[in-house]
Amino acid sequence: MAIHSQESPNRLVDRFGRQVTYVRMSVTDRCDFRCVYCMSERMTFIPRAQLLTLEEMAMLGQAFTELGVRKLRITGGEPLVRKNVISLFRQLGRLPELEELTLTTNGSQLEHLARPLREAGVKRINISLDSLDPRRFRRITRIGNLSKVLRGIDAALAVGFERLKLNTVAIRDRGDDEILGLLDFVLDHGMDITFIEQMPAGIDADAPSSQSFVPSEEILELLRTRHEVIATDETSGGPARYYRIPAHATRVGFISPRSHSFCESCNRVRVTTEGRLLLCLGQDHSVDLKKVLRAHPGDLSRLKQAITRAMELKPEGHDFNRARHPVAFRNMSSTGG
Ligand code: GTP
Ligand code: 5AD
Ligand code: SF4
Repeated sequence: MAIHSQESPNRLVDRFGRQVTYVRMSVTDRCDFRCVYCMSERMTFIPRAQLLTLEEMAMLGQAFTELGVRKLRITGGEPLVRKNVISLFRQLGRLPELEELTLTTNGSQLEHLARPLREAGVKRINISLDSLDPRRFRRITRIGNLSKVLRGIDAALAVGFERLKLNTVAIRDRGDDEILGLLDFVLDHGMDITFIEQMPAGIDADAPSSQSFVPSEEILELLRTRHEVIATDETSGGPARYYRIPAHATRVGFISPRSHSFCESCNRVRVTTEGRLLLCLGQDHSVDLKKVLRAHPGDLSRLKQAITRAMELKPEGHDFNRARHPVAFRNMSSTGG
């Protein structure tokens, strides 16, 4: 039987003493949108045979939770376009040690999948939404349909998730009304929102310049022109810093990889669609877990050993402001953001 005490070796601790308790798993690099800061217009996706199977992902979930991981976030691409993905949620939802099973989605499939997700044990969902203006939404996502996303949000609200959060990437030249409109939307719907500084990842020629990112402080100042916005020390186990607006349930978060460093408290690693364990979003250090899974099928202890050893490789942090950063050559969609 596994022992989970402070002294137990069943914890993932890196060279800097940081414990990994949060894993983000990208289940597909495909998406039904083509957001300008994430993908190019004509994408070549990874051949299916190179992707981890859902069974392999479930086994990874088991290995990680036995190693002290308590939060799993399913990402993509758009995770809900992966065939049969609900069966993965069901398997992960049954892991005894897991405290939180979550998902980041563009919302396009929520209209029919909100209920099965809730039933599989998902309590919280983050929905990426950058604009409430149909034309601007289409410009940013290139092919996305705003009304479908809004119907998805309604479905998720109706099913009763504990928290729903919008993720909004701050893009220059968007207009203040848009930011304030998104805030009004979450205040009206009892949802949370996180404003994210754009990172220079997978950028192609027609994406907005990585130099034109909007610092979180600018957004905060704008919100303060309309509302009292109070800093808190709340956390959702991710990199966001949270604020509250008195008399509202809404939490307003900021993820500021460009203007603030949060690497010293990093508690997470990622698994790419192809089963590569990525030790930092902003660096290339990785270990091929698919190789281990396929060389020794069903061997959980070998998998756990490979994951434990990989902690040695976790770098101290990233620097997204450095020119020609390695992450710029990797698409967010295969690493899950
Ligand atoms: P919560 O559980 O709600 O805290 O979610 P989260 O912020 O951990 O996850 P989400 O998928 O909503 O991520 C929001 C944004 O944070 C994405 O753009 C991620 O790329 C970014 N993000 C998450 N972790 C890291 C990290 O370790 N480094 C950097 N630079 N960005 C991160
Ligand atoms: N910079 C910041 N956030 C990004 N996302 C996708 N690409 C980028 C980028 N270059 C966000 C999505 C989603 C989350 C998983 O990552 O909007 O909310
Ligand atoms: Fe799809 Fe999300 Fe990338 Fe947009 S940011 S193209 S919704 S994976």
